[in-house]
Amino acid sequence: MPRHLLDIRNLSTDEIDELMDRADDIIANPQKYADCMRGKKLATLFYEASTRTRLSFEAAMMELGGNVLGFSAADSSSASKGESVSDTVRTVACYADAIAMRHPKEGAPTAAAQVCPVPIINAGDGGHNHPTQTLADLLTIRREKGRLNQLVVGMCGDLQFGRTVHSLIDAMSRYKSIRFVLISPKELRIPDYLREDMTAEGVTFTEVEKLEDVIGTLDILYMTRVQRERFFNEEDYVRLKDSYILDVAKMQLARQDLCVMHPLPRVNEISKAVDSDPRAAYFKQVAYGKFMREALLMKLLEVEV
Ligand code: NCD
Repeated sequence: MPRHLLDIRNLSTDEIDELMDRADDIIANPQKYADCMRGKKLATLFYEASTRTRLSFEAAMMELGGNVLGFSAADSSSASKGESVSDTVRTVACYADAIAMRHPKEGAPTAAAQVCPVPIINAGDGGHNHPTQTLADLLTIRREKGRLNQLVVGMCGDLQFGRTVHSLIDAMSRYKSIRFVLISPKELRIPDYLREDMTAEGVTFTEVEKLEDVIGTLDILYMTRVQRERFFNEEDYVRLKDSYILDVAKMQLARQDLCVMHPLPRVNEISKAVDSDPRAAYFKQVAYGKFMREALLMKLLEVEV
C-alpha cells in the first residue's frame, strides 16, 4: 500500500519535525537536492481553482529535478464527460508516481486513495482539510517564532469553511501550551466536530467576535478569507465578507513580535498597507510551502539524497 497524505493526522509529530528539518536543509543546500527526483513524475489533478497550491507542487517537483503533468480545472478533464474520480485516478496512476488532488467534495481524495496504487496528497477537499498548507504554516511558525509550543494562536475569519484552519488547529493542538483564540462572526464559528475534538483533548481555546479585543494578546494571527464558494446564498456572503479587515490601526494594538499569517488568496481581510510591516509573514509562508512540499514528496516517494 502506498503512503498517502489525506489528513494532517496521517503524519506523526516526529515525521512533521523531520519534514521541517528537511525543508530547512533544502533551503540551505538546494544544490544537494537538484537531481533527486530525476525520472519521477507528479500529477496535479485540480478539480477546483488554485494558484499557490498547484504551482507550488509543480515548482517543488521541478526543483528536485522531476516532472509534472495534470489538469487545473474539472472542465478540461474527462470529469466533464462523467468519468468518476476513481477511474481518473486509476488512469493517472499509470502515468505518474504520485498524485496531488484538489476537489470541491469533502473526502474525494480519501475515496480516490482506496483504488490508487501511488501516493495521493490531499491538496484541499471542500471545506474539510488542507494538510499541505498546514505543513507550510508550521514551517512558517517554527522559522518566524523559533518554536511550535507556548504560543497564543489567533485564527480569524471564516473558521467554519476554512479548510486550512481545520488542519492547522488539528496540527497545533499536539504541541505544548498552545492557546487558540478563535475570532469569527457567530455564523462562521469552527465546526462542532473540531470543538468536540479540542474539548476531548483538553486543548485551551476561546471563541470571540471582536479582533480588536484580543489582538494584543496574540503571538500568531492567522487571517482567512470568507469562503464565498461554500456559501448557500450570496446574501449571507455579502453580509459577512468584510467582517474583519486587518489594517494599520489594528496592527498598532498588536505586539511587536506578532506574526501575521494568511494562506492566501486575500480579498479584503488584510489591507495592503500592512504588507510592509515586518510582522507580515504571508508571502514568506508561500515560499516555505514550496520547500515543505519538496520535503513531503521526497518522503512519500521514498527518495533519499
Ligand atoms: C486556501 C485554500 O485553497 O483552502 N488557499 C491555499 O491553498 N493557499 C485558502 C483559501 O482559498 O481561502
